[in-house]
Amino acid sequence: MTQEPLIAFLKPIELPGLTTTGNLFLAPLAGYSDAAFRSICIEWGADLCFTEMISAEGIVRDNAKTLELLQRADTERQFAVQLFASEPVVAGRAVRKLARHRPDLFDLNCGCSVPKVLKSGCGAALLRTPERIADIVRAMRGETDRPVSVKLRSGWDHNTINYLRCAESAEEGGAAMVCLHPRTRSQGFSGSARLTDLKTLKANCSVPVIGSGDLFTPEAAVRTFRESRCDGLMFARGALGNPFIFTAVRQLLEKGQEDAPPGPRLRLETALRQLEQTVRFKGELRACKEMRKHFCWYSKGIPGGAELRARAVRAQKVRDYEDLVERFLTTGSFK
Ligand SMILES: Cc1cc2nc3c(=O)[nH]c(=O)nc-3n(C[C@H](O)[C@H](O)[C@H](O)COP(=O)(O)O)c2cc1C
Repeated sequence: MTQEPLIAFLKPIELPGLTTTGNLFLAPLAGYSDAAFRSICIEWGADLCFTEMISAEGIVRDNAKTLELLQRADTERQFAVQLFASEPVVAGRAVRKLARHRPDLFDLNCGCSVPKVLKSGCGAALLRTPERIADIVRAMRGETDRPVSVKLRSGWDHNTINYLRCAESAEEGGAAMVCLHPRTRSQGFSGSARLTDLKTLKANCSVPVIGSGDLFTPEAAVRTFRESRCDGLMFARGALGNPFIFTAVRQLLEKGQEDAPPGPRLRLETALRQLEQTVRFKGELRACKEMRKHFCWYSKGIPGGAELRARAVRAQKVRDYEDLVERFLTTGSFK
């Protein structure tokens, strides 16, 4: 059987009121997908980036820390805001309040398995009451003309795999797109993503389906497209310290091969650029603290990276990071 050209997988996602530039997205990543990281991912070819999950309750209450998660980079032409909520009324109010931030898409988190979130009936807890997903999406839709998507896991646990029912409920409520991380809540991040779930969802869903899960390499992206026929992909852990993955996937799909992976210089200089962006949004002290975890990801796999990481966790100023990188790149180590 002849396979269609890889380039055929690259396409915009057409939603009512929103057409994306393409179908390679940055997933919502709590603690990571802030405006600075999103802007770097856009530079490297991400078509649409999701904010980390944001509490609808926090928005309604004008919680300052919650509102800060709505910072948006100048280069974010399209802006996707992910909310977590358990009450339709609260979700609707949050969406109404967010109009002034001009999001292009709202997403409802139905996959987070953090105990605190589950306790409040949000995130993956919604998988246990699929009909509630329709109620929440409907309430969100009632307050905006922007499309609403939902992000699901396969089910609560292996005895209750119900992503089809949840997606159906989302569609009933008016969702324009469904994203699936095909693991159950009880799996967390263990085992591997079940591409068969993604394939079944795509075959049964009338709105675009976006696949998430184990997208660590361009080859994994091709495999996910091929095996599931999903409409687009959402990169999560595979993009941490590696915004280059968007370019690499695009190259593989367009030309059948990717360029050599970025070397230590490009990786570390990109980390510094992200730091610079983070300073713009959060000030130097906080940026330097928050950048430590990103820096660890950027230096992963670089020979001598362990020493670099050990030193980066003590960096307090931009200058400290710059000195570290410069010394590492000129001497190759700290010995
Ligand atoms: C650190 C971290 C934070 C995450 N935060 C969110 C989040 O805020 N909202 C969400 O829907 N999913 C979140 N996820 C799940 C990812 O979006 C993604 O679906 C999951 O990691 C599977 O993709 P991967 O195997 O390619 O990493 C998070 C995952 C990680 C590792």
